[in-house]
Amino acid sequence: MDITVVGTGYVGLVAGTCFADMGNRVFCVDIDSKKIGMLNDGKCPIYEPGLEPLIEKNVKAKRLFFTTDIKKAINETEIIFIAVGTPPKPNGDADLSFVENVAKTIAETATEPKIVVEKSTVPVETGERIAAVLKLYNPHNVVFEVVSNPEFLREGSAVKDFLVPDRIVIGASSEHARKKLGELYSPLKAKILFTDVKSAEIIKHASNSFLATKISFINAIADICDNTGADVKLVAEGMGLDARIGKSFLNPGIGYGGFCFPKDVEAFIRIAEKKGYDFRLLKEVQEINHAQRKIFVKKIEQQLWNLNNKKICVLGLAFKPNTDDMRFAPSIDIIKMLQDEGAKIFAYDPVAMERAKSEIRGIEFCSNAYAAAKDAEALLVLTEWQEFLELDFKKIRASMKTHFLFDGRNCLDSKKMISLGFKYFGMGSQGNNCL
Ligand code: UGA
Repeated sequence: MDITVVGTGYVGLVAGTCFADMGNRVFCVDIDSKKIGMLNDGKCPIYEPGLEPLIEKNVKAKRLFFTTDIKKAINETEIIFIAVGTPPKPNGDADLSFVENVAKTIAETATEPKIVVEKSTVPVETGERIAAVLKLYNPHNVVFEVVSNPEFLREGSAVKDFLVPDRIVIGASSEHARKKLGELYSPLKAKILFTDVKSAEIIKHASNSFLATKISFINAIADICDNTGADVKLVAEGMGLDARIGKSFLNPGIGYGGFCFPKDVEAFIRIAEKKGYDFRLLKEVQEINHAQRKIFVKKIEQQLWNLNNKKICVLGLAFKPNTDDMRFAPSIDIIKMLQDEGAKIFAYDPVAMERAKSEIRGIEFCSNAYAAAKDAEALLVLTEWQEFLELDFKKIRASMKTHFLFDGRNCLDSKKMISLGFKYFGMGSQGNNCL
């Protein structure tokens, strides 16, 4: 099939590349000519495992094209995915002006029938708005069909998530569009759920909000564990063994971050509000999430007392491992709180330091974990990179001034750390420092 994907962010770039790898001819379009130039040179603008070789392979096979010429792409293809950004406005609503602009361009350009697919995360009823725009600016009287096809891939495992998804949701209003999208996805052999457009739109916001709720729930339990001496890891294991609950997304820590959960939970609260429902549950999910960062900093202060002029080593800046994405990373808030108390931060992240430089000021970026830990009074783990699990902690301990270890992700072996002489503090899991 011939496909256009407008927007080469995480979703658009991964979707476009994977559609090409499935044998389709794909035009990936972006207004950012620098990015398109980079992609045409075979360079991937984001750190995403496995993506760059897949781009290279499909560009070479002449199935994948990067262009700023949206009109040409529209005219050469039948299915057009809208995967542009829907960033939050200051009031928390999703800003849909990029989506509207793309819809307008499609309407003004197309001379033959098109299937227009919303891939970006959008509020319910956006499909109706897109359909209205397509009708309004339609000089050639073209027939448009609108489909909602939300994407569930995660950063850091995006290619695998796209190619081996748990489910594919296709919200289509016509039989023709349903059939076409069904055919497009048929090589993936995943369960396809066909719905109406609005239900598909809500599935995306409801899924992200539910996952965020799971995280805040276990973070609340972690707090209770901290105050009672129970171990949240065991509690989560015991809960997760119930098939109705499941073990995933029950890892407590310093709260969720990234460009999806914070923005989507906020947007869903706003959507609900507009429809007359006060989504108090999600408001509490947000509260708990913000509190996690403060709880973490309080723990550090309880042990180190005054932070002024104390050297603190931070391992991990990205909002999660296997990405260089710093958007809404908990590390930003935590480092700011520590700096406000006068702490000196020495940080290391395997890939996110370049991006972190524009987000976090006044810290020392180090070339590796050992350099960051030297002479530190405390070591904080803020992202659970595999590299950190394999560090020589004996060497690290020996180079530190005092030996406080705050594991914001519960990713280290607490017993081992304690046996090495660290004073270990997890989130709801203290590894029992008294033993
Ligand atoms: C999330 C969803 O998982 C994807 O399904 C969705 O497609 C995507 O948002 C999106 O809407 O585009 P992503 O933000 O890439 O994906 O990352 P996640 O792996 O979901 O992690 C989000 C945050 O939750 C991270 O900060 C992570 O550290 C945190 N988290 C996750 C926890 O604190 N505990 C957990 O148990 C799981």
